[in-house]
Parts: sequence; structure tokens; C-alpha cells
Amino acid sequence: MGRSSIAELTFRAAVRKDIPDLVALDHICFPEELAYDGRVFEDILDWRGSWHIVALHGERVVGFVAAVPYDRFAHFITLDIHPDFRRMGLGNMLMDAAERMIAEDGFKIAVLEVESDNEAAIALYKKRGYTIRGMLKGYYANGKDAYVMSKVLSDYGDGL
Ligand SMILES: CC(C)(COP(=O)(O)OP(=O)(O)OC[C@H]1O[C@@H](n2cnc3c(N)ncnc32)[C@H](O)[C@@H]1OP(=O)(O)O)[C@@H](O)C(=O)NCCC(=O)NCCS
Repeated sequence: MGRSSIAELTFRAAVRKDIPDLVALDHICFPEELAYDGRVFEDILDWRGSWHIVALHGERVVGFVAAVPYDRFAHFITLDIHPDFRRMGLGNMLMDAAERMIAEDGFKIAVLEVESDNEAAIALYKKRGYTIRGMLKGYYANGKDAYVMSKVLSDYGDGL
């Protein structure tokens, strides 16, 4: 059988019953010491005004993006793409859809942290117009540094 394509995927908001699958996906995407447990996903779903999208291949959760409103900013919490579905444009597609919802809700700036040696994610974010605003030394549980990146969401919707 050939490689799956993103044309076979469906998309929807996350629901509570997805949490075990989201935890499992996060543990595939990140090292054990950085992967989120179920409480983080519960917090995302409970956070008033949060934005989240699950990508499904049949019943299987293969991608997830989440952001929450914090002060005047939309703060991305995670972007997870299953290794079987990488380099097909899915990460880009989920970021695009999330940014669109964020802009439609009137938020003008998106912010995220990314591990400073995560070349794939940094390349994706730079391509999407995010710029590095600073570094948080030792930000992650494994002692690694984070870049803080942000983007003005000026390309979406009216009145932005
Ligand atoms: C980073 C990640 C989200 C990228 O998802 P993806 O679906 O493979 O990304 P896309 O296919 O949409 O790629 C879009 C662009 O990002 C860049 N990119 C993606 N993966 C890359 C890689 N491994 N190396 C270099 N650039 C990469 C490329 O510019 C790519 O465009 P191209 O394929 O036309 O060259 C995915 O690798 C992942 O889930 N990694 C583990 C979790 C993670 O690091 N999340 C981000 C945390 S902040």
C-alpha cells in the first residue's frame, strides 16, 4: 500500500475522549521528559476561548495543534504531527487553520516557544512569518533553551 496522503484526513476540534490519543501522540513527538500528560490537554480543552484542531486518519489521531488566549496574545501550546504524516504539509495546514481562527476571534499576535535546536519546527515557523524575539535559557524540563517566536496575524480576515 502506498503512503497515506493528507487528502485522506479529516479535521475537527478536540474533545475529551481524544485525550488518551493526544497524550500518546505527544509522547511520540517529544522526548519523555517534555511530553505532556493528560492534565495539560484537559487544561487546553477547559481554557475559555482556546483553539484546537485534531487531524484524523480514519479513527487515528495523527495531528494536533492548540493555542490559548493569554492577555492580548494567542499562545501556541503544541503542534504534533505523527512521523508517518510529516513533510506532507500537515503541520503547515494545522497552523494555517489555527491562525485563521485566532485572527477571526480578533487576536493580532501569535506567540510560541520552540526548543532552540528544533530545526524542523523553527523552519516551519519562519516560513510562516514567525520571527525570533528572544531566548529563554533552560526553559524546558531537560534544561534546553527555548526561542520565543511571534507573528503579526495581518494576512487573515478583515480589520486586522
Ligand atoms: C515540526 C513538525 C510539526 C513539522 O510538521 P510537518 O507536518 O512535517 O511540516 P510540513 O510538512 O507542514 O512542513 C512545512 C515546512 O516546514 C519545514 N520543515 C518541516 N519539517 C522539516 C524538517 N524535518 N527539516 C527541515 N525543515 C522542515 C519545511 O520548510 C517545510 O516545507 P517543505 O516540506 O516544503 O520543505 C513535525 O516535525 C513534528 O511534529 N515534530 C515533533 C513535534 C514538534 O517539534 N513540534 C513543534 C514544537 S514547537
